[in-house]
Amino acid sequence: MNKKFYITTPIYYPSANFHIGHCYTTIIADAIARFKRLQGFDVFFQTGTDEHGEKIEKKAKESGVTPKEYVDKIIENAKDLWASLGISYDYFIRTTDEKHEKAVQKIFKKLYEQGDIYKGEYKGLYCVPCESFWTESQAVDGKCPDCGREVKMVSEEAYFFKLSKYQDRLVKFYDENPDFILPLSRKNEMLNNFIKPGLEDLCVSRTSFKWGIPVDFDPNHVVYVWIDALSNYITSLGYPNEDAELFKKYWPADLHLVGKEIVRFHTIIWPCMLMALNLPLPHQVFGHGWLKINDGKISKSLGNYKDPREYIDAYGVDAVRYYALREVPFGSDGNFSEEALISRTNTDLANTLGNLVSRTISMSHKYFDGIVLNPKVEEEIDNNLIASVTNLKKIVEEKMSELKVNEAIDEIMEVLRKCNKYIDDTTPWALAKDETMKDRLATILYNLLESIRICAILLSSFIPSTSNAILTNLNTSRVSYDTITTFGNLELNIKLNPAQVLFKRIEVSN
Ligand code: ME8
Ligand code: MG
Repeated sequence: MNKKFYITTPIYYPSANFHIGHCYTTIIADAIARFKRLQGFDVFFQTGTDEHGEKIEKKAKESGVTPKEYVDKIIENAKDLWASLGISYDYFIRTTDEKHEKAVQKIFKKLYEQGDIYKGEYKGLYCVPCESFWTESQAVDGKCPDCGREVKMVSEEAYFFKLSKYQDRLVKFYDENPDFILPLSRKNEMLNNFIKPGLEDLCVSRTSFKWGIPVDFDPNHVVYVWIDALSNYITSLGYPNEDAELFKKYWPADLHLVGKEIVRFHTIIWPCMLMALNLPLPHQVFGHGWLKINDGKISKSLGNYKDPREYIDAYGVDAVRYYALREVPFGSDGNFSEEALISRTNTDLANTLGNLVSRTISMSHKYFDGIVLNPKVEEEIDNNLIASVTNLKKIVEEKMSELKVNEAIDEIMEVLRKCNKYIDDTTPWALAKDETMKDRLATILYNLLESIRICAILLSSFIPSTSNAILTNLNTSRVSYDTITTFGNLELNIKLNPAQVLFKRIEVSN
């Protein structure tokens, strides 16, 4: 049986205005999910939408519709965007799904009945856009320390979850699982800013608005939206039925991929909830950085964004995916700019990859009618190339296992650059003029075509349509992962399809 891999993105607040920053988490999750599938893992990749809460209720009111009408209408926007980005999720959860709502009520009740949730009075600050509670000392000049927006004082009867009770177990869990929170800096942030000062019990219900999952035994209360949202990772699998097939197969999650501002919810509140439910904790939470524009976070309210579909329409889906995956070291913040996207597409995709594929295939057609031959007239220069290509799989696997996606991709690009240099060094056009060099020429073209095949398979997780186009161009049936463990599996005597342009150079007019 194959090993399983359960990977999640956060569930997104429904929006009519997703920006490239929102696509960032999802594209990376998709690349990781695809790579695990390539490696033979049984992958469950989940995304979805987080549809309750005061923020959504307010927006619906502003649009003059009920919250349910509001979310139903814009939910398709997320699905449409993910489709246009080629996101290969296995399950899309909506927190308004009846199955999820019922499960959250059961979770809440279970925690209440066992004494982990109790009734009290909440008085403190609340940030509506982040849906998060703050104490006066945490707020910065009366503003939310996360997003910098105005917080408001709330005072209401509320249920509390005994977060404090789990503090010691949480710290012990961190100690025993050094890879639980990555990058490491985020773990230190959690310890120093939130855990060492002492965890306070968390307010987990609200009474001042209605758009949430009602607490079934006290329907004036709706469940705090983060308790509702975090539960999505298990309700989708069938929890509270611990015997549900998906739950037994996939829980605990292998990787929760989240933006850095919500690491706190995933590494403090979520593990404590799971401990209270007596469930195993996820293996890893990775908190990635933000894509910024001119050093500011891309944001709907700042209006500094374009619909990502505009970039897809202009440059192609793989240019956008490639940029998101390659440009920024995973974990750090990075600046997004259309100029950088264009320049990345031109240098890596058009020049390095596109040129290599089209000139190799054109030469094969010109010199050998597109037929793949390999008389094996090998020289030292070939062995160097072959060694780099043969090692590549292992290197990419190592990088991906550390989630160094940008480095994994650059390793592939490095090999493609070597292939281009190999063409320049071996000068096939000169050999073509000499009848006695035919076998040598065929060998060189074989080495290039085989290198391209191997790189195309390794690129399939990152730029799937391009990878597919290349393999179709090669007309090869050797497309599975196990065919790239050794060099030389490209079939002989097949006929290549005509060369095509994979990426046009994008000309920028000023
Ligand atoms: O936080 N750069 O949803 P959300 C990189 N519903 N990532 C960005 C970004 C940017 N400029 N802007 C947003 C929520 N994101 C909750 C999650 S999970 C149980 C509940 C990322 O729609 C952000 O960091 O505000 C987060 O990972 C994701 O988009 C969804 O954000
Ligand atoms: Mg957010």
